[in-house]
Amino acid sequence: MRNTLKLVFLLGLIGFGYSQASWAIEGFEDDEGCLLCHKYPKMGRITEDGTLRQYYIIPHIFSKTVHRNVPCTDCHSYIKQLPHKKVKEGVKCDSECHSIKNPATGKNFSHKPIYAKYIKSTHGRKKVAQGNDRDKPYCVTCHTNPIYNPKEDEPPKRIVDRCVVCHEDGKFVANWYRHTSRRIREVKRSSEEIVALCSSCHGDRRLVERHMRAAKIEGRELGRKYPYAVESYKESFHGKITHYGNKKAPNCLDCHADYENYYMSVHYIRPSRDPISPVSAERKVKTCKRCHTYADKNYAALDPHPTSNKDDNPFRHYAEVVYGWVGDVVLFLLVGMAVFETIGRRRDGVIWKIRKGSSWWRPSRRGRDRKI
Ligand code: HEC
Ligand code: HEC
Ligand code: HEC
Ligand code: HEC
Ligand code: HEC
Ligand code: HEC
Ligand code: HEC
Repeated sequence: MRNTLKLVFLLGLIGFGYSQASWAIEGFEDDEGCLLCHKYPKMGRITEDGTLRQYYIIPHIFSKTVHRNVPCTDCHSYIKQLPHKKVKEGVKCDSECHSIKNPATGKNFSHKPIYAKYIKSTHGRKKVAQGNDRDKPYCVTCHTNPIYNPKEDEPPKRIVDRCVVCHEDGKFVANWYRHTSRRIREVKRSSEEIVALCSSCHGDRRLVERHMRAAKIEGRELGRKYPYAVESYKESFHGKITHYGNKKAPNCLDCHADYENYYMSVHYIRPSRDPISPVSAERKVKTCKRCHTYADKNYAALDPHPTSNKDDNPFRHYAEVVYGWVGDVVLFLLVGMAVFETIGRRRDGVIWKIRKGSSWWRPSRRGRDRKI
């Protein structure tokens, strides 16, 4: 492995002159020289625990991501010299950009306001997490560039033409157009994507059970619906119509996050036992009212996470058991009677043959002929 990396390094140096020219074409400036080595496809390694890590950055893809203007070392701030040492820590999402200022405040840009909410949410964890915290989502669990940055449109010429009258630079205009237009159009995850995101953990039986056990040992409380969150949502009316493509029914975040300041609120999910959660007993009616304008306390008492699990809803569980039996018995009697009849008729010498609207034709062996 060591030798392969050395080879990669050498190839990097050889390719230096050529590559300087090639990524200039992509419109991506690699001022820090990271791509000198990191542009080589297949650069990577298999770690001790057997995961494949890919270390190559594809310039024309990176130059389309939301972070295209952030220099590599603003995020990988632990790299101070080149060639760099072995990397030990990862990128933290609450660090400060030293090269990009927030135009609104004039200060160094950072995601600290979001991070401050996130760390207090039910999902908050450190970058390098211990124990069960490792199951919680860090920023990069939910945000990866490919998912997050759907192909951004080129700005319509009509608009560019108008802006360049004053700003003179088409690239400046295109950059800001992409930055704002996606947000004005409210491009965001679809309901299916959100359900899939939350389900990737809350629908994972082993993860859920691990946390149930840990909470029991630590004497911690978990929501009543914690063990069934996903299966029950899928069973609910909301879950079913969302699955069939209805856009008006709520996904997980329509209930578990606030509409007011939505983009901050999705980072501040709290358990329902906390009164600030939109699904807490205190606020639930208002949350249902977002869509069901007629909702009152009784309506909000309807279960958005219905299950027929014995521990969760014993009434429904036993009702299902009883109705199950009733159904089985009725079916059994029905089929039984038909079989019984058939045997009797056959003993009479009657066979299956439809004529004049009846299948029972033939002289009876026991003198019980059908009369018309
Ligand atoms: C001289 C070649 C070279 C240059 C230039 C270079 N790197 Fe690397 N980089 C490597 C090699 C080789 C590895 C693999 C090291 C290992 O696995 O021990 C690596 C690994 C990495 C890793 C992953 C480490 C891990 O295990 O997670 C990161 C992150 C990284 N480099 C970032 C950068 C950044 C940012 C720059 C520019 C400031 C840069 N590199 C410039 C050669 C280089
Ligand atoms: C917005 C912040 C950001 C920028 C800008 C950025 N990276 Fe990264 N990079 C990350 C994160 C987050 C990871 C995931 C690994 C981690 O969590 O530490 C990562 C991982 C890597 C890895 C290793 C992949 C692995 O499996 O560990 C390399 C190599 C790398 N980046 C190189 C670069 C280079 C080269 C640039 C500049 C062209 C760059 N990065 C720009 C945030 C960034
Ligand atoms: C549980 C998943 C999850 C985690 C963890 C998470 N986010 Fe988000 N984030 C979302 C969702 C969902 C949205 C709303 C936009 C959408 O639906 O795509 C969002 C939106 C954003 C936005 C607004 C983007 C825009 O273009 O309008 C930023 C910025 C952001 N998150 C940063 C962060 C940072 C920084 C962290 C870590 C402190 C983080 N997120 C952690 C799910 C998450
Ligand atoms: C009539 C001339 C004019 C037109 C047309 C115009 N701008 Fe501007 N723009 C300015 C001036 C002057 C400023 C700086 C003063 C200010 O902030 O109001 C500015 C500031 C900006 C800034 C803030 C830059 C910063 O770093 O603070 C952005 C972004 C911007 N314009 C984008 C656009 C876009 C996109 C368009 C086309 C949709 C556009 N402008 C059309 C004159 C114009
Ligand atoms: C990376 C895995 C992961 C993802 C993705 C995830 N969660 Fe979680 N979630 C967890 C873990 C782990 C806990 C903490 C359980 C504990 O306290 O032991 C948790 C806790 C919760 C709780 C509080 C449970 C309680 O009773 O204390 C709620 C509510 C919740 N998540 C909702 C969501 C929603 C809604 C989404 C989708 C936007 C989501 N989660 C995405 C892993 C995840
Ligand atoms: C119609 C609104 C609604 C939707 C949609 C919804 N939930 Fe819930 N959720 C609730 C309510 C209300 C509770 C509290 C139920 C109780 O304890 O009686 C809850 C409880 C939970 C809990 C248990 C922890 C706690 O806070 O009590 C988790 C975990 C959870 N939901 C995750 C999800 C996930 C994941 C989805 C999407 C697949 C989802 N929810 C969709 C309303 C909703
Ligand atoms: C994002 C909007 C939204 C939210 C929030 C929401 N619902 Fe719904 N709900 C719908 C839609 C859409 C339907 C489909 C039928 C309809 O149009 O009434 C529906 C249907 C239902 C039904 C099926 C029977 C009926 O009345 O049509 C019940 C029960 C229900 N919701 C309960 C709740 C409860 C309880 C809450 C609050 C915890 C809630 N909903 C929150 C949008 C929502």
